[in-house]
Amino acid sequence: MSTERSARSGRGRNGLFRTKTVEESIRDTEEPEHALKKSLSALDLTVFGVGVVIGTGIFVLTGKVAKENAGPSVALSFVLAGIVCALAALCYAEFASTVPVAGSAYTFSYASLGELPAWIIGWDLILELALGCAVVSVGWSGYIRSLLDTAGWHLPAALSGAHNGKFGFDLLACVLVLLLTAILVAGMKLSSRVTAVVVGVKVTVVLIVIIAGSFFIKGANYHPFIPPSKSSTGGNGLSAPLMQLMFGFTPSNFGLMGIFAAAAVVFFAFIGFDIVATAAEETHNPQRDVPRGILGSLAICTVLYVAVSIVVTGMQKYSMLTVDAPLADAFKAVNHPFWAGLISFGAVVGLTSVCMILLLGQSRVFFAMSRDGLLPRFFSTVHPRFGTPYRSTIALGVVVAVVAGFTSIDVLAELVNIGTLFAFVVVALGVVILRRTRPDLPRAFRTPFVPVVPVLSVLASFWLMLNLPAETWVRFAVWMVLGVVVYFLYGRRHSRVGATDLP
Ligand code: ALA
Repeated sequence: MSTERSARSGRGRNGLFRTKTVEESIRDTEEPEHALKKSLSALDLTVFGVGVVIGTGIFVLTGKVAKENAGPSVALSFVLAGIVCALAALCYAEFASTVPVAGSAYTFSYASLGELPAWIIGWDLILELALGCAVVSVGWSGYIRSLLDTAGWHLPAALSGAHNGKFGFDLLACVLVLLLTAILVAGMKLSSRVTAVVVGVKVTVVLIVIIAGSFFIKGANYHPFIPPSKSSTGGNGLSAPLMQLMFGFTPSNFGLMGIFAAAAVVFFAFIGFDIVATAAEETHNPQRDVPRGILGSLAICTVLYVAVSIVVTGMQKYSMLTVDAPLADAFKAVNHPFWAGLISFGAVVGLTSVCMILLLGQSRVFFAMSRDGLLPRFFSTVHPRFGTPYRSTIALGVVVAVVAGFTSIDVLAELVNIGTLFAFVVVALGVVILRRTRPDLPRAFRTPFVPVVPVLSVLASFWLMLNLPAETWVRFAVWMVLGVVVYFLYGRRHSRVGATDLP
């Protein structure tokens, strides 16, 4: 208790770094009109994890990075990105088992680093989850349109999203987000059942790619496994990884640098395991189940990704892979259109669950920020019958649907990556800080070798961030500055923790 008191005494000294104690966070979840229903198990969480993790990353980006950055060595990029995520996952697991409250990295930071860092991370998660959902829904709509085209149905260009710089509203992406919002409002249990079916289809399709595809591998396609480095042409300097600009390298693709640049992009394929932590509050036994859900889903996905990338680059020469639907097209290239159709169908189904869970995670972070008064409290009332945070779900669903209608994919995935990696850095630091400030807290899961693992996690995440294009850093900085302005104009004055500080 005395440790709690000393943690509290830090608040008054500096308002920007006032912390919300872990006890306060847990107490808030027990207020009846703000309490979420506890209905999830470790299996539900693993299914959620796999449901949100396997998506655009493996179905779309694999082809692009193999073709443009890494060749067959994209498999190594997946291993690297997987290692960065595993280090972060160990930190997330400790935090989630210690602070089992909706809001993930946001809540963790509030307990360890203080209000301003927590706000910054919440604002950053909005970027990750909302834009991530918009990006994936646009990818989904592209797959659906290609299936519709095969069936002879064509949507008017004005409703098919932006193409070649020409404006077009992406009707399908927008409708998908609105439908998923309605499902989420109706309740967690329903959404987790829908997810279970969807995840089953998606994993089956990925296994089909691996097993059926392995019969078409040609050894020659793996030569060279790491294509020699080539200087990249076109674009302005800002499109090169920050790393290359900082050290004055000529921007290049392939080679060893290409593997890292590809890892920074395929990192998108792993995003989502951290979202399992956002559902901690809705879990029966969060201390035990959340770490299992996080680490389990990450392990399953890493194995599948490495296998898929090895198979696909073995089926087709990397330079021949397509950018829109590389997995399906690899089967077309070996004259198996039936498998290609099945894979496209699986991708469509799979991307649906990714969108839904990104939306779910987003509404929970928003809910947690609103419950703390950093965003209007109006958004944190739960539905009297469904027990879901319906106001934040609907508000965000509508915003994401509009963004999805007007957004094209390319650049945004990188912006989502930098936001997520930044959250990883903060969470890893938070683990070390909370061990010092609150050594007394029960930790059902402990990150091994603290502080070595968290420090490695910070370095690894930062390394991947440096491998993202300089222009992504600029966009990220703009978003974060905007967030700090909003905090000083609204959150700081309305914070509930701040209110209890007043004399
Ligand atoms: N990891 C998710 C995907 O690949 C976001 O689509």
